[in-house]
Amino acid sequence: MMNNDNEIFEVKSKNVIYTDDEISSSYTYETTCVTKNKNKNGRITITAEPVSKRFLFKVKRNTPKLGVMLVGWGGNNGSTLTAGIIANRYGIKWMTKSGEQSPDYYGSLTQSSTIRLGTTNSGDQVYLPFNKILPMVSPNDIVLGGWDISSLNLSLSMKRAEVIDYDLQRQLYKYMDNMKPLPSIYYKDFIAANQNDRADNVLKGNNKQSHLDAIRKDIRDFKSKNNLDKVVILWTANTERFSEIREGLNDTADNLLRSIKNNEDEVSPSTIFACASILEGVSYINGSPQNTFVPGVIELANKFNVFIGGDDFKTGQTKLKSVLVDFLVSAGIKPVSIVSYNHLGNNDGKNLSAPQQFRSKEISKSNVVDDMVDSNNILYKEGEHPDHCVVIKYVPYVKDSKRAMDEYISKIFLGGHNTITINNVCEDSLLATPLMLDLIILTELMERITYKTEEMKDYQRFDPVLSVLSYLLKAPVVPSGAPVINALATQRRCIINIFRACVGLPPENDMLLEHKTNFKLSQSNTINNNISVTHTNTHTSSTSSTSDNDTKQCSKDEKLSKNTKAKKIDYHLNNNNKKKINDQDTENDCHNNINGNINGNSNGNSCKDKMNGHSKKGQKSKQIEV
Ligand SMILES: NC(=O)c1ccc[n+]([C@@H]2O[C@H](COP(=O)([O-])OP(=O)(O)OC[C@H]3O[C@@H](n4cnc5c(N)ncnc54)[C@H](O)[C@@H]3O)[C@@H](O)[C@H]2O)c1
Repeated sequence: MMNNDNEIFEVKSKNVIYTDDEISSSYTYETTCVTKNKNKNGRITITAEPVSKRFLFKVKRNTPKLGVMLVGWGGNNGSTLTAGIIANRYGIKWMTKSGEQSPDYYGSLTQSSTIRLGTTNSGDQVYLPFNKILPMVSPNDIVLGGWDISSLNLSLSMKRAEVIDYDLQRQLYKYMDNMKPLPSIYYKDFIAANQNDRADNVLKGNNKQSHLDAIRKDIRDFKSKNNLDKVVILWTANTERFSEIREGLNDTADNLLRSIKNNEDEVSPSTIFACASILEGVSYINGSPQNTFVPGVIELANKFNVFIGGDDFKTGQTKLKSVLVDFLVSAGIKPVSIVSYNHLGNNDGKNLSAPQQFRSKEISKSNVVDDMVDSNNILYKEGEHPDHCVVIKYVPYVKDSKRAMDEYISKIFLGGHNTITINNVCEDSLLATPLMLDLIILTELMERITYKTEEMKDYQRFDPVLSVLSYLLKAPVVPSGAPVINALATQRRCIINIFRACVGLPPENDMLLEHKTNFKLSQSNTINNNISVTHTNTHTSSTSSTSDNDTKQCSKDEKLSKNTKAKKIDYHLNNNNKKKINDQDTENDCHNNINGNINGNSNGNSCKDKMNGHSKKGQKSKQIEV
């Protein structure tokens, strides 16, 4: 594992080129297309067909100076995030009753987890820090700002939250005293009435258009004052009630902007923040459960090609549920009753004690097992679901230390039952803030990734609805028609495999055939892609192989990894030079493919038409009679 910041990970393959500015990869996406047909006798034939599609990816290597604006900056999450970044940035240590504690980013996917990179010649597994696979912003470099309806500075907000150890708080005051949230939008109707007493920092008047304009100006000012390349906005303010979705009100981008101009009551503060963010070209993430992303916001994001991501941080109980139910259902065990109690005593709990705000949370927590249940039609008939009940109570004494108690009853072999009960004490904000960082860092990275297929003239970004963030969210918002994935391991694999594709590496498949067959990893490299891992000391494209045996390159063609100056290449498709890719191309001619000789000729088959791809030689579709 690499733990030295001077070490940089690169892939050497004919499928990837590193220049000073960019990583470019040529990647064959292989998937399975399925068709279902009913015959005259009512039997269904399921036909599965492997399809492949060539993608070119580009990732900009230079990380920007990034600013993050939090809506709800003075809340438990906002103040904990701020304290955590400053403690890490300055390496502030503090005393606890168990001794000295150093700052860390435990709980962050990007900062504290690793990915399996591959296997060495000697059969050892090599793991890579998650944030080394592609260049990512360091949380320590993020410039923070934001809004809150409460006027307390960040030192006092942190004190109010009672999350951070006293000795660390004491050392942080000097950094946080001057951090003061900007006045925010407050419409009483959207959050609980019990929040009224802290709302002393609000934008004047009731004119929604002037509020939208004020927030847009705040974003521009923050960017220019801090000399930032980019800003990301994250809603970590109180949970709002759901907004009504109505034709003419918020069903299209134009109607929504008109409704703001007309001061329609039903437009929420969070929807105004999302619109302001999109209109300023700034990515917007929703960490709370409410339906900020009404259809008009989604259309606006598409129109302006700005990323939006949501909803609701997936921290404790729901995260565990998205692991446990996945395990049960995929083991052939049938959960029939899932009951989840929570009690918490922080301001979030106080707000959620109001029925309408609780309802938002209940909705976001309720669909979390749907994809797993739908995946197994042996256990569940169509439309059948386990009983699923969620209860949240406000108990001030436990403060930010939320209690989550769950009971899972499942049907097992021959009518037996298995009951699992879990008591999970979640320090809420300490679990949530690392996820907030991941959401920000991954969103910024996605802004630097573009792709192209052979039908496309120019490179473009991923869909504006950033479903790749699903791992971090309870109720993932996905592009229209896309499946909602809640299973945690699947969500994680999605991120990792997309990032691997961006550096021309195959998806992680867990097969480990080199340990189960007589296949030796080194032999494959003579016919495969000459993939090797090198550690480099600079951001230039010259690479050198490591002397470390554990991370020694697998490729026989070692000299290629040394002093290879990556060439700048022309990625425009050369239509006159189209060439059908066959297996030979894939194996031996990847550079040509990167240069644009990609072709996905359809041969008329429906699956192939859909993918506009082609099957590999020798691959036959499989027919399963059901
Ligand atoms: N902490 C977790 O584990 C977790 C998990 C999932 C979701 N969430 C959600 O994250 C949100 C924040 O959680 P928290 O514990 O920090 O809550 P909090 O109540 O401590 O903080 C919310 C802050 O938002 C401010 N606020 C309310 N309305 C605002 C507005 N219109 N504009 C600007 N500021 C506004 C409040 O004054 C408060 O300071 C909640 O909606 C919660 O449901 C938290």
